[in-house]
Amino acid sequence: MLHVWWQDDLPQREGSLVRRILSLAAGGEIISFAGGLPNAKHFPVQEVGEVLAAISQEPPLMRLALQYGETDGYYPLREIIAESYARKDNLPIKPEQVGITTGSQQAIDLLSRVLPRGSVVAVERPTYLAALSALRLGEHDFVEVVLEEEGPEVGSLPERAAAFYAVPNFQNPSGITWSNARREAIARWAHERGALLVEDDPYGEIRFRGDRQRPLAAFAPKHTLLLGSFSKILAPGMRVGWFVAPEGGGRLFEEMRFVKESADLHTSTFAQVVIAEYYRRGFAQAHIEAVARAYGKRAALMRELFHELLPEVRTTDPEGGMFLWAVLPEGMDARELFTIALEEGVAFVPGDVFYASAPERRTLRINFTAEDEGGIEEGVRRLARAYARCLRR
Ligand SMILES: Cc1ncc(COP(=O)(O)O)c(C=O)c1O
Repeated sequence: MLHVWWQDDLPQREGSLVRRILSLAAGGEIISFAGGLPNAKHFPVQEVGEVLAAISQEPPLMRLALQYGETDGYYPLREIIAESYARKDNLPIKPEQVGITTGSQQAIDLLSRVLPRGSVVAVERPTYLAALSALRLGEHDFVEVVLEEEGPEVGSLPERAAAFYAVPNFQNPSGITWSNARREAIARWAHERGALLVEDDPYGEIRFRGDRQRPLAAFAPKHTLLLGSFSKILAPGMRVGWFVAPEGGGRLFEEMRFVKESADLHTSTFAQVVIAEYYRRGFAQAHIEAVARAYGKRAALMRELFHELLPEVRTTDPEGGMFLWAVLPEGMDARELFTIALEEGVAFVPGDVFYASAPERRTLRINFTAEDEGGIEEGVRRLARAYARCLRR
């Protein structure tokens, strides 16, 4: 038989497992704690509608929005992003340091292609699955840094690494936020080793408890590539994110631009203009606060129900974001629980997919934003039934 490479040779990848889980969970009666989606009920439908109506009344702006744009992004949006860091974090970022990307996922992918092939990249253990996928495509080598409640365990930082990819606020998957002390220590490490900190922060503004932490970029401005996104603070369908290149950043900005140009020329001008106008009209802050409040209630309910119905399962206590992380007692297996949980009508993501190597099989990622409060209550009840069945096996 004729050998056809796209039928016979392409690899089965772990990413497709998560896709399978998500499509299973999307069907019928399943309550899903598996997805990573913001809750669509909270999208600013009316405000975006107002912005679209306003733009349609301004032909020059509409023409600009419908035209090709610059690879670096729509300048007024780059200014808005820079100003926002100045206001919230007192960070003196220039709009010229900000590059607009097609979601922050693209920034991770661009970086993966800019890094010399086979670079050593430190990642948290566990870490964001799609960052692992992007970095694997660049054929880089991972070193895992154990993630504790306070942040990365400093003792497990490698002697040398080209970069440390990390999610210091309300991490996906664990919900953990780094303390200031850990941020300082990691910044020192980056200085001493000449490593690039890749601070992926799509959730930082969705804080429902405690005070905003200083970004790593404030501790190590010359060593940090800071990534952000409008996906969680406005809507992921916009597909607009950004990177902030390190201060005096050598050729990193230019290289990211070079690679982006061949990936997609530029991010949708239309989406960028809509977002800039949305911010200009002052809609953003109230929306972010409302989303954080709503998610905070769901997170608290989820934790309460775990305490009550699954007291042997340890969970993290996120101060923001969309996920908590659960650890099953010794000897249990989250994949086995997952199979039974699906029969009971509830889904989650088994935690083993979030490890670069030596997966821990007792962990699970629980999303608390996609279901409403009734769904959370019923879902944890179903999970508790699945857990009891798993114990009896
Ligand atoms: C940690 C992290 N980084 C990046 C992304 C990608 O987000 P987007 O490309 O929508 O900005 C996600 C999405 O869930 C995420 O959890």
